[in-house]
Amino acid sequence: MTTNINERKEMFLESYESRFACKKFDTTREVAREDMEFILDSAKLTPSSFGLEPWKFIAVNNKDLKNRIFDTAPRLAEAMKTADKVIIVLAKNSSELRYSSGYVNYMLKDVKEFSDSQIKAIKEGYRKFQERESSSVYDTMSIYHWSWRQSYLPLSAMIIAASQIGIATCPIEEYGEKQLERMLEDEGILNRNEYSVSALLAVGYADPAIIKEGKERKFRPDVVEWID
Ligand SMILES: Cc1cc2nc3c(=O)[nH]c(=O)nc-3n(C[C@H](O)[C@H](O)[C@H](O)COP(=O)(O)O)c2cc1C
Repeated sequence: MTTNINERKEMFLESYESRFACKKFDTTREVAREDMEFILDSAKLTPSSFGLEPWKFIAVNNKDLKNRIFDTAPRLAEAMKTADKVIIVLAKNSSELRYSSGYVNYMLKDVKEFSDSQIKAIKEGYRKFQERESSSVYDTMSIYHWSWRQSYLPLSAMIIAASQIGIATCPIEEYGEKQLERMLEDEGILNRNEYSVSALLAVGYADPAIIKEGKERKFRPDVVEWID
């Protein structure tokens, strides 16, 4: 940590403020692999409920596939095809997130290397979380939504990380979900029993002609309330 805290705050906010949903990228510039890895690392480090990391990210460098992915979002396709790359954000399906699933076991045993007794206790806590009456994650649909909304955390992390190194992004929700998932499955990229697509992130350098200055945002008192 060579810079002091105030400098770091300033640098962070300055880069974050310069971020915008980029609708036209510079087609002459490619995002280096190491910069993509930096952006993807921010996703990988994102916290998740129970530490289950219910997501996966597919970074598409292949131009033909990238363009076909954007074809599933017709309103934006032409603009997004100017992006150098696209990251597909996948959210785990509900069957894989039940306390009794093989995936939960894999996370606790192989990734986190808990002992058998620790795993038993954690699974019991997790079972109670999923089965308590007031739980927001008790049935297939609500577990699915739980997984889906968590996947927006790494999406956000990637947007912010990219902004810190001058790389532009555009998060996209308006793709044809079924069309895209079918295409990815046909390509052998997606197993729909395991994951669903929750968002796309176009990545590239912004076309200098469209770089926006300033932000329209709600006024601070409408967003932040202090209680001392
Ligand atoms: C989760 C998410 C999904 C979005 N999906 C779309 C989209 O499908 N199409 C689109 O044109 N913009 C999309 N956007 C961009 C927003 O419209 C944009 O971020 C917002 O208007 C604020 O503008 P700014 O990002 O330039 O500050 C999305 C943004 C987020 C965060």
